[in-house]
Amino acid sequence: MIDYQVYKFIHLAGILMVFFSLGGVVMHVANGGSRDNAFRKVAAITHGIGLVLVLVAGFGMLARLGIHWPWPGWVAAKFVLWIIFGAALFMIYRFAHHARLLWWILLALAILTVYIVMFKPF
Ligand code: HEM
Repeated sequence: MIDYQVYKFIHLAGILMVFFSLGGVVMHVANGGSRDNAFRKVAAITHGIGLVLVLVAGFGMLARLGIHWPWPGWVAAKFVLWIIFGAALFMIYRFAHHARLLWWILLALAILTVYIVMFKPF
């Protein structure tokens, strides 16, 4: 049985992968870079694997904490934010002319997610 600490380690590793790739892609696009770049696949694979690790380990921790459906507000909120971080890679390319704004929006949403899980305001 995988214990809570191991799930948290995997969860945090996945989070690093997601934001490492998002930051890199925003920076590339903010500097005028396009979707067709040599590093695109690596960034997309890192983002994808990160998302899966965040999800699987997140649910693993929920199980260890004995949290089941219906989810408390903080879990539902984090799930919605996870979907946004998932779609973000597509949105950065789609709204390239707003890349600078997306840099700050994604950063603010990431910090909000950490606030929600640490203080569980709802
Ligand atoms: C499917 C989505 C997600 C689920 C189900 C989920 C679930 C969880 C759970 C159950 C915990 C442990 C909470 C506790 O022990 O009190 C946790 C911790 C954490 N999650 Fe997530 N999470 C998700 C997405 C995210 C995302 C997208 C981020 C990105 C910033 C994130 C950041 C964190 C952090 C930083 C912790 C550690 C908090 C601490 O040590 O107190 N999670 N998550």
